[in-house]
Formats: sequence, structure tokens, C-alpha cells
Amino acid sequence: MGYEYIGFEKDGAIGTLTISRPKALNALNWDTLKDLGSFVENDLPNQELRVLIITGAGDKAFVAGADIAQMSEMSSSEFREYVDYAHKIYDLIENSPYPSIAAVNGYALGGGCELALTCDIRIASEKAKLGFPEVKLGIFPGWGGSQRVTRIMGNGKAKELIYTGEMVSAEEALRLGLVERVVPHEVVMKEAMELAASIAARAPLAISAAKQAINTGSEMKLKEALNLEKDLIDGCFDTDDRAEGMKAFLEKRDPDFKGK
Ligand code: CAA
Repeated sequence: MGYEYIGFEKDGAIGTLTISRPKALNALNWDTLKDLGSFVENDLPNQELRVLIITGAGDKAFVAGADIAQMSEMSSSEFREYVDYAHKIYDLIENSPYPSIAAVNGYALGGGCELALTCDIRIASEKAKLGFPEVKLGIFPGWGGSQRVTRIMGNGKAKELIYTGEMVSAEEALRLGLVERVVPHEVVMKEAMELAASIAARAPLAISAAKQAINTGSEMKLKEALNLEKDLIDGCFDTDDRAEGMKAFLEKRDPDFKGK
């Protein structure tokens, strides 16, 4: 696809997007963020995936955040443009119909941790370190982190993490609910692929509907969210995959879902 700072590979219906700027621990300078954004806006929707995995190139980092060297030279309006663009792209990833997994293979800091938080599920290497060092730089997590992490961990723990700027180990991140699994470093991609394969075998429209129910519903009042859930499950009921799933159960065989 001709991107310099991201890679994309497809294995069946599982796509792996790799942020690739290892000499700077995959920090998202403008060029890297633009590659990510262009891929997400223009290429991702046509991939017909069942699961998207996001990871970082190299052995040390998922993504070490926004690019500090570049930010230090930005004007206020340039900085606002950088923030606006990151928000736009992170929203698109979070609300993509594809379920997503962050394979956190090392440092996930600042904008990198915020990128992991746009994914539905996070699997971390036991060597990973996560956190929001922004207050050490005179800013705070502003690519969605202050809002997404609070919704995941609750206000108190999120404030502790953000106010101190300290990184946490993968095990601590698991305890905090910041990641769903911690696995040996060497198998982080294997585990992500296995989880992706098990999700990819399920009914894709049902998973997209569940994702929408959870993402959109969690922003609504309970009664509205319950109504949304009813509408979405009605939509699932009218799919070929629903008929296939129930038929396969009754015939004691594996279903063959087509995403229709
Ligand atoms: N921006 C720019 N360059 C970065 C970077 C970043 N976020 N993180 C790492 N790098 C660069 C380093 O400058 C270094 O480059 P040089 O070799 O040219 O000096 C290279 O990557 C390797 O890094 P280190 O030598 O520092 O590696 P280390 O193992 O000693 O330390 C680290 C690793 C603890 C992750 C350290 O690099 C670090 O603290 N990085 C900054 C992390 C950070 O503060 N992230 C938040 C950024 S702000 C943000 O993201 C704002 C927001 O809300 C969106």
C-alpha cells in the first residue's frame, strides 16, 4: 500500500496493522500518524476483515506516544491540528465495525496507551509497560486517554495513573483493568492471533452489533441503551448467519458464517 511508517498484513480475515518507526520506539510523529490515519480512513474499510490486530514494530515498544521532539517545536495551532487529527483517527479505530485487539508488545505510553485503548481488547507482553507520562511534559493525555481510561478504570485509579505520570507493569495493568491478558513476551502475537481466530469464527454481524451496543450503549442512559440493544438484536435475527448458527447447533455441526 506504499506506507513508510505502518505495515499491514492479512492472514485470512485477520488483519495485522503494525506501527513501524522502531528507531523512535514507534512514536507517532506527524508522518507516522498520517500513515496510520490514511490507512484507517482509506484502506481499512475495504479489507473485509473479521478482526484487526494493532501492534508495534520491533521488540521493545508498542507505541511510545506522540512525538515529543516534534511537539516541542509546534505552534499552538499546529498542536491543535495534531490533537484534532489523532482524535479523528482514534475515533475511527474505536468505532470500526471490526473487533480489534491491541497486541501490546512493549512500551505503550501516552498516545501509544491511548491507541491501545481504542482497541476492544488488549493483550500485553509481560515486559510491557503502560502509562501516561504526559504530566512530566506539561500536558496531560489528550488523544482521548483522560476519557477512555477513566471509563475503563474509574476516576480514582485513572487520576492516580495520570497525575503521577508513572508507568505500570503489565501485571499491574491487568489488575487495573487496563489490559485483559498478560502473556510471555515471545507469544504475544501468537496469543493475539489465536484470540483473533476464535473471534473470527463467530458470526461477524453479531459481533459488530455487540460492539455497537457496548460502545454506543455505554454512553447512553440505561433505558435508551436497552432499547438500542433490542434494535440491534432484532437486526441480528434477520441475518442469514443467525439462521445458519441456530441450524448448525441443531444439526450438531460447526456453523459456517458468511457475514450476511
Ligand atoms: N517521542 C519522540 N521520540 C521518542 C519518544 C517519543 N514519545 N519515545 C522515545 N523516543 C526516542 C528517543 O528520543 C530515542 O531517540 P534517540 O535514539 O534518537 O535518542 C529513541 O526513541 C529510543 O528511546 P530511549 O533512548 O529513550 O529508550 P529507553 O529505553 O532509554 O527509554 C522510554 C524508553 C522510557 C519509553 C523513553 O524513551 C521515554 O520515556 N519516552 C517518552 C515516553 C513519553 O513520554 N510518551 C508520551 C508522549 S506525550 C503524548 O503522547 C501526548 C498525548 O497525550 C498524545
